[in-house]
Amino acid sequence: MKPRKTAKPTGSAADFIPPRATLSKLRAAAEGCRGCDLFKLGTQTVFGEGPSRARVMVVGEQPGDAEDKAGHPFVGPSGKLLDRAFDAAGIDRDEVYVTNAVKHFKWARDSRSPRRLHKTPNAGEIRACFPWLQHEIALIAPQVIVCLGATAAKALLGRTFSVMKSRGIPIESEWAPAVFTTVHPSAVLRAPSDQRALAEKMFVADVRKVGRYLASDRAKKQANARVRRFAEWPTTGSRSTISSESTRSSRR
Ligand code: URA
Ligand code: SF4
Repeated sequence: MKPRKTAKPTGSAADFIPPRATLSKLRAAAEGCRGCDLFKLGTQTVFGEGPSRARVMVVGEQPGDAEDKAGHPFVGPSGKLLDRAFDAAGIDRDEVYVTNAVKHFKWARDSRSPRRLHKTPNAGEIRACFPWLQHEIALIAPQVIVCLGATAAKALLGRTFSVMKSRGIPIESEWAPAVFTTVHPSAVLRAPSDQRALAEKMFVADVRKVGRYLASDRAKKQANARVRRFAEWPTTGSRSTISSESTRSSRR
């Protein structure tokens, strides 16, 4: 899809956001995104997936090797660990929308093996990709967002945000009534063997806190009063393209 001719190019995903966006329109448009150079590196855009009425949105960093090949988020080892944590927390995967801060796999060739080595996206790439995430949040309006790792936390809560200090604590923000942060499951999987069990236990404990929050009276009240917050957000250039008849207009 070509950038809209009427708008000034922003050099970001905003140039590719369709007017009157719905989730499926967004997903289709994201396939042709060239908002940053990562489209040259990844096999395909890996857009978020899950119900448009999800109460919980999980935001990872970027697709990994398995996700890049499959075209679906969290289908590799990190996704399996995430599934186990949701099981343990009593959160139904059918209630969860999973996505990433950056939608193309950034990698480099390993000199010693045929593997593709994950590379952390930089601030410019996170910024360029942000309009997709912003629109996913606006359309789904989740009650809870769970940021996995520093990239997601920085994208939504600011560059100086410390996951380590704030993990497992709900933060009220413009994005959702409660934004939780925890470590990335891949960090758990990469932990040295003597720390691995503890790292997993702490990760699962954080996700359990999300489960308890969702089951709380406070969260139940919020669920009844879910409103689209996008109209109140600061102007982002692409804001006017959001449809008032979004996928969630019928759900209050
Ligand atoms: N890690 C992520 O951050 N996202 C995925 O989709 C898979 C692994
Ligand atoms: Fe577009 Fe994001 Fe892919 Fe960059 S990483 S090309 S902004 S979808």
